[in-house]
Amino acid sequence: MPGVSLVGSGSACLSATLSNEALSHLVDTTDEWIVSRTGIRQRHLAAAEDSLGSLAAQAARQALAMAQVEAEAVQLILLATSTPDDLFGSACQVQAELGATRAVAFDLTAACSGFVFALVTAAQYIRAGAFDTVLVIGADVLSRWTDWGDRNTCVLFGDGAGAVVLQASDRDRLLGFELCSDGTLNSYLKLPYQATPEPLNADLAVQKGTFAPITMNGREVYKFAVSRVPEVIEKALFRADLTTQDIDWLLLHQANQRILDAVAERLQVSPERVLSNMADHGNTSAASIPLALDEAVRAGRIQPGDTIAAAGFGAGLTWGSAIFQWG
Ligand code: COA
Repeated sequence: MPGVSLVGSGSACLSATLSNEALSHLVDTTDEWIVSRTGIRQRHLAAAEDSLGSLAAQAARQALAMAQVEAEAVQLILLATSTPDDLFGSACQVQAELGATRAVAFDLTAACSGFVFALVTAAQYIRAGAFDTVLVIGADVLSRWTDWGDRNTCVLFGDGAGAVVLQASDRDRLLGFELCSDGTLNSYLKLPYQATPEPLNADLAVQKGTFAPITMNGREVYKFAVSRVPEVIEKALFRADLTTQDIDWLLLHQANQRILDAVAERLQVSPERVLSNMADHGNTSAASIPLALDEAVRAGRIQPGDTIAAAGFGAGLTWGSAIFQWG
């Protein structure tokens, strides 16, 4: 059975930023409150001319360049996103923009767990021998669906895109994983379609509407994250026949610095082994893990051979962990 290697990473550069101070002019909040409760100092926002697809393609191009892989060599593009430009999917637009003419491309939706779910999904295609070169992208523009008048949610989110290239290899560097869903907790975090009936004739009506902004029960999501995330990482480590002592980096979905700290403490991982770009980016949903990964790789913090325990969690509710070696 072929193994899986992660051979390149990339991310999109979003120059527009929104500071906590600027946010305090939109809603009743303060920089002190946001920093102390979340660790976030600013978030990057997509510009008016940016599309989800263009940000995803930008991240993908960087990842392909690092991996020294031509776009024509890519056989599968998996785009993890909850904010496509088109509800029919945005992955094909990314395929066209990259010129990845041989690739089959589709979207995968699992909110903030999307990147981990897509990484594991892509690895199964490689292990099965179906594809040998795959692009996995996590990209979200949650600013489109944020209620900028709701201080409970608008302080948390930002926009971004990150990508990795996976290739078939002799040694399997995806060491273990565990994925979970619990739809009974769905109401804690939602971006729901809301509609009113539009009669077509006397007997029939269709539901016409749009998506309502994000709603969240912050305290419940917090409790969920700090209990379930350590558990799922331990299960994935068990499958990899490793313990937390064996990992070089803990790479969690960047939702809240307090969640990162609490999970690390439960797993007894020291703070210097926890990757965080919370202060600069906030929560960028499916983009957060590949974005933090790419920043750490480019900064020389993550080195080839390093073992990384990644975990995503979020709406669905969904959560999952993948243990892998970089490079
Ligand atoms: N600025 C100032 N005050 C705020 C505020 C803001 N942006 N947002 C909420 N508050 C207020 C609340 O209204 C509340 O006031 P009250 O006591 O008068 O009712 C008070 O601050 C405390 O609110 P609480 O919800 O208890 O705060 P918290 O310590 O739980 O922090 C979150 C709130 C959202 C930061 C925290 O619950 C959290 O991070 N949850 C997880 C969210 C998440 O990660 N979601 C995405 C997962 S993918």
